[in-house]
Amino acid sequence: MDLIPLSVKQAGVVYVLSKSDKSSNESLMDLKKSFKNGSKFIGALINNNLVGYVRYKFLKKLKDTCSLEHICVKKDYRRKGVAGALIDVVINECRRNKKRKIELGVDPDNNSALNFYKKNGFKIISYHMRRTIKL
Ligand SMILES: CC(C)(COP(=O)(O)OP(=O)(O)OC[C@H]1O[C@@H](n2cnc3c(N)ncnc32)[C@H](O)[C@@H]1OP(=O)(O)O)[C@@H](O)C(=O)NCCC(=O)NCCS
Repeated sequence: MDLIPLSVKQAGVVYVLSKSDKSSNESLMDLKKSFKNGSKFIGALINNNLVGYVRYKFLKKLKDTCSLEHICVKKDYRRKGVAGALIDVVINECRRNKKRKIELGVDPDNNSALNFYKKNGFKIISYHMRRTIKL
């Protein structure tokens, strides 16, 4: 597996990947905007085929914090350590840039992601609540 930084040109490929993932409802425009706004993308390639990616950003306001914006692996390649390898790249980049914290939001029903994050050392630090009102 090769782990490489992705350029804005590869956003289209990432877009297709993210569309196959219910946890993402971003448009290609949103992805391109996030490149412009300083998000970084790392892709996981197997036989030159993009099978997963992670997007993260070093926050300007919280100097010691990295926001993990999205991580996704193609269905056929899950549970083979691809996302774990992508997280390791982010952790190394955080070390290099003196970021002590990685934060993210996750849907409470997303058991695979919750398990994945727990396995990789993440702890729940807050609950975010919402009430939907009938209009
Ligand atoms: C979450 C996700 C990125 C994990 O990717 P992955 O490459 O399969 O993860 P890894 O192989 O590195 O890690 C596997 C570990 O994650 C957890 N995990 C992954 N899928 C799981 C599942 N279906 N059920 C339970 N635990 C699961 C387990 O702890 C597993 O370890 P194990 O195989 O030893 O039990 C992947 O399932 C995915 O792309 N999901 C859709 C997108 C998504 O929900 N992203 C997170 C949004 S916040």
